[in-house]
Amino acid sequence: MDHILSGIKPTGQLTLGNYIGAINKFVKLQDSGESFLFIADLHALTLPIEPEVLRTNSRDLAAFYLAAGLDPNKSNIFLQSDVSAHAELAIILQNYLYMGELSRMTQFKDKSSKMKEEAIGLGLFAYPVLMAADIVLYDSKVIPVGEDQVQHVELARDLVKRFNNRYGDVLVMPRAEVNKVGARIMSLSDPTKKMSKSDPKGDIYLKDDPAVMRKKIMSAVTDMEAHVHYDPEKQPGISNLMTILSCLTGKSFDEIEKEFEGKGYGDFKRAVADAVVNELEPLQQRAKQIIDSGLVDEVLEKGAKRANEIASGVLSRVQKAIGLYHK
Ligand code: TYM
Repeated sequence: MDHILSGIKPTGQLTLGNYIGAINKFVKLQDSGESFLFIADLHALTLPIEPEVLRTNSRDLAAFYLAAGLDPNKSNIFLQSDVSAHAELAIILQNYLYMGELSRMTQFKDKSSKMKEEAIGLGLFAYPVLMAADIVLYDSKVIPVGEDQVQHVELARDLVKRFNNRYGDVLVMPRAEVNKVGARIMSLSDPTKKMSKSDPKGDIYLKDDPAVMRKKIMSAVTDMEAHVHYDPEKQPGISNLMTILSCLTGKSFDEIEKEFEGKGYGDFKRAVADAVVNELEPLQQRAKQIIDSGLVDEVLEKGAKRANEIASGVLSRVQKAIGLYHK
């Protein structure tokens, strides 16, 4: 069975984009192989974050994984920092990725462009190195991610090619697995931008009060075309809402267009709001119950145990291959 691997950073609030592009996909894939789904808490340190916020977000993210339907008997859910091989392998792999390619990463350019050079941490620059270590550490073939992370997975593929050319067949080649619909959910307030964790008006947060979710959707930016039609160029706002509706209900774009033929944007937005609230309100309730039950700690401990088993084997394979003597 193929290994499946992915992670989410416990920074900011989880968004509907994270849910559709990643979490929901993890759930769909969990029967097709052994999953390693972690909370990327080391990656969360690449931008300043308060210790208490990091701790709470990490616990909440694990609870949302479980609430969304990840089964701890099938999927290994763990903290990246509970498996020290991530950090150890990253130290090794940093010698096989180069400054030029790291400085071309879109995420690095976006995040660092507004910062003074003196304030850009080395960890932010080396972010894709740790991510490559995460990916290769479990011999994983399938990496479910949203579109914005594909470039990082491609870099990990380049690294695997480079490494294996030099040392033989040591690392397994991964590939990004991206949704056909919903790989890039856009901001509700500016549908030309990705929904990120840092735009309260344009984001739907998984923890938003249902009334707030409805309000954000009802005031989502649309256009003057006055018909519900999928055309991301001309009607980016409507197309984004159609994508959300399609991902949450399983309806195709054709079906949605037919259903709302001759109807106004108000009716359409109400249907999107209903679908979002119907999905997220029970999810919130389950997450809360899970947090109160204390299940999270148990799951993380079990997940880390299994993750450590696999990761330490791959790490020592790499150490041997490159000539670390005592191995
Ligand atoms: P992060 O925490 O930014 O996002 C987590 C996942 O959610 C996806 N995503 C989206 N998908 C669709 N529409 C959106 N608007 C949207 N916003 C976010 C992301 O693509 C991602 O899949 N670097 C990663 C975490 C990570 C990782 C890894 C992922 C660390 N190591 C190894 C895969 C494999 C990140 O920052 O994701």
